[in-house]
Amino acid sequence: MTKRIGLLTGGGDCPGLNAVIWAAVRAAEREGIEVFGIEDGFEGLAAGGTVRPLRGEDVRNILGQGGTMLGSTNRGNPFKYVSIVDGQEVIEDRGDEVVHTMQRLGLDGIICIGGDGTLAIAEELIPRGAKVIGVPKTIDNDLGATDTTFGFYTAVETAMEALDRLKTTGESHDRVMILEVMGRSAGWIALNSGMAGAAHVILIPEIPYKLDAVLDSIRRRWDEERRTFTLIVVAEGAHPEGGATSVIDIGSAAHVPRVGGAALVLEAALQHAFKHGWERPRGIPEVRTTVLGHIQRGGSPCAYDRLISLRFGAEAMALAAAGQWNRMVCLRGTEIQSVPLHDALGRLHLVDVDGQFVKHARSAGICLGD
Ligand code: F6P
Repeated sequence: MTKRIGLLTGGGDCPGLNAVIWAAVRAAEREGIEVFGIEDGFEGLAAGGTVRPLRGEDVRNILGQGGTMLGSTNRGNPFKYVSIVDGQEVIEDRGDEVVHTMQRLGLDGIICIGGDGTLAIAEELIPRGAKVIGVPKTIDNDLGATDTTFGFYTAVETAMEALDRLKTTGESHDRVMILEVMGRSAGWIALNSGMAGAAHVILIPEIPYKLDAVLDSIRRRWDEERRTFTLIVVAEGAHPEGGATSVIDIGSAAHVPRVGGAALVLEAALQHAFKHGWERPRGIPEVRTTVLGHIQRGGSPCAYDRLISLRFGAEAMALAAAGQWNRMVCLRGTEIQSVPLHDALGRLHLVDVDGQFVKHARSAGICLGD
């Protein structure tokens, strides 16, 4: 009997999702496997499942396109499915409905392209009868069991370009320029873009910062170059020592909090310090903040992300063809391999504060806020 595989994208989108779909569909065609694209991730499946067949002609020209042709949602969780009944929010477990929908659609299994949230849902569906294969995506690069996730390097490129631009305007006005980048509880985007973009200060969640260390760095620039221009990258999850991560929305029983605001917290603290007790002969620096936001998630994937995306897609379909379910494809060195999905979850890949990356940033004279 012909195999039928479902394909879904879940969580926040990122550059490279379409490249995974492109490669998986093309690999399936060669194997004589039918592919069905599931719209809007697990949220879509929990709502009854809208699917469409995907053949080579349906994915033509999408390799380099940003976003996802299947749609996605960053809030959907079938085990905490939210609906409004009589004006009240009702949360219910629709995990079994998801598995029944998959069976009704005649799917042998599904390839789930997502981050920790989506892959955790996929894993929770296994005991209920689902067969799944995970493909690790996220600009945050925070998934364990893979050297990198796709989407990350495109986000780094975008953030680095933003820093290059902030540098020229910041230098012209001799200002302190702060750029807030994404990453949730991981500082990878901040650290990589900050190093590549020659930031003077990089603040990451893994190293709670001291305001005095940042002020010292600005002072040093005055002492050495008679300038207060300072380029600062702040990860959205960065926070001062003894302080908490800033959130835009505290979340709910069904939704995780929305992280953000770290740059404004820093800007306010710096402005306050400049008004009170800052040595005037050094000049009172002006501070300007840019929050890069979803610009990091949009647009075409860079060459590296296209390559790992399409190799992940090809390998995921090879696993499905071979009936090797409940695994996640991953990058090890230059090889695409796979690990049991269970092993890939539950351990976040954070910046090692004693690792080489941090050491090299310090040796380049970058202040990490400690
Ligand atoms: O996990 C990816 C990510 O882009 C985070 O870096 C960020 O905190 C979050 O998603 C933003 O999510 P949303 O799209 O719901 O605003």
